[in-house]
Amino acid sequence: MALLKLSILLCTMLFGSSLSRAASPNNIFILAGQSNMAGRGGVENNQVRELEWDGLIPPECQSDPSILRLNPALQWEIAREPLHEGIDINKTVGIGPGMPFAHQLLTKVGPRAGTVGLVPCARGGTIIEQWIKNPSNPDATFYKNFIERIKASDKEGGVVRALFWFQGESDAAMSDTANRYKDNLKNFFTDIRNDIKPRFLPIILVKIALYDFMMKHDTHDLPAVRAAQDAVSKELPDIVTIDALKLPINVDTHEGFNQDHGHFNTTTQITLGKWLADTYLSHYGHLL
Ligand SMILES: *[C@@H]1O[C@H](CO)[C@@H](O)[C@H](O)[C@H]1NC(C)=O
Ligand SMILES: *[C@@H]1O[C@H](CO)[C@@H](O)[C@H](O)[C@H]1NC(C)=O
Repeated sequence: MALLKLSILLCTMLFGSSLSRAASPNNIFILAGQSNMAGRGGVENNQVRELEWDGLIPPECQSDPSILRLNPALQWEIAREPLHEGIDINKTVGIGPGMPFAHQLLTKVGPRAGTVGLVPCARGGTIIEQWIKNPSNPDATFYKNFIERIKASDKEGGVVRALFWFQGESDAAMSDTANRYKDNLKNFFTDIRNDIKPRFLPIILVKIALYDFMMKHDTHDLPAVRAAQDAVSKELPDIVTIDALKLPINVDTHEGFNQDHGHFNTTTQITLGKWLADTYLSHYGHLL
């Protein structure tokens, strides 16, 4: 009988269910942006040209009792791929940087890292004007939901440690949105920090590597968005940038990408996740 109970408990822990609500994690990280933050590793067209995730989960992305995610119902559960399931709604989600980030953090820090909480918030294809706080539209749902998820994450314990923001490819596809990107990004970060006070929120900003995944537009303002990302990281405190162009990718030969030439493949996502952990630790690891 005891054995049966134990195996039910283990199954619930491993496979997740409404019964598997977990205690609050110690160290909480917010993940937001567009599709390459949400994760498309292993998502390719099948033979009828529909997107499908291949379900392959490498060791760096496996579930672990020390890695939790805040689910769409704002409850903690054992995290499992795809991390953005139910969050990046109406998109086919796959492997992203979140799980390899958490594994790397746990490996590098050891028991002091306690449990790691991931708060997936990214939404594929979004431009920043969908995310910003809009005083003339207090119901702007992206911003509202985003702040709600951050506040829910540490309600019952744990500390929000950082925001990882990887977004701007859609803005880089159009000159007008690219030109407004700097002001929008600066206001967005400033509003978030004000609205979640007194939390201290370092931001790791991933500079984009390419524009407009599907090449549907004929303008490309990648340099403008990258320059805006640099400028904001200098004008606001506690923003560290990492450059996606330095990942093991080649935007000309498409190495490191899916067949769509815009989304990072699983291998690239694992590298990105490890970079996020190494970057966080080298700047803020002393806080853990
Ligand atoms: C998802 O798709 C359904 C069906 O097309 C639509 O009704 C719904 O509004 C979409 N949800 C979001 C969040 O885009
Ligand atoms: C990702 O791309 C790199 C470079 O093209 C390749 O070596 C690697 O095997 C790919 N990973 C996957 C999971 O397809």
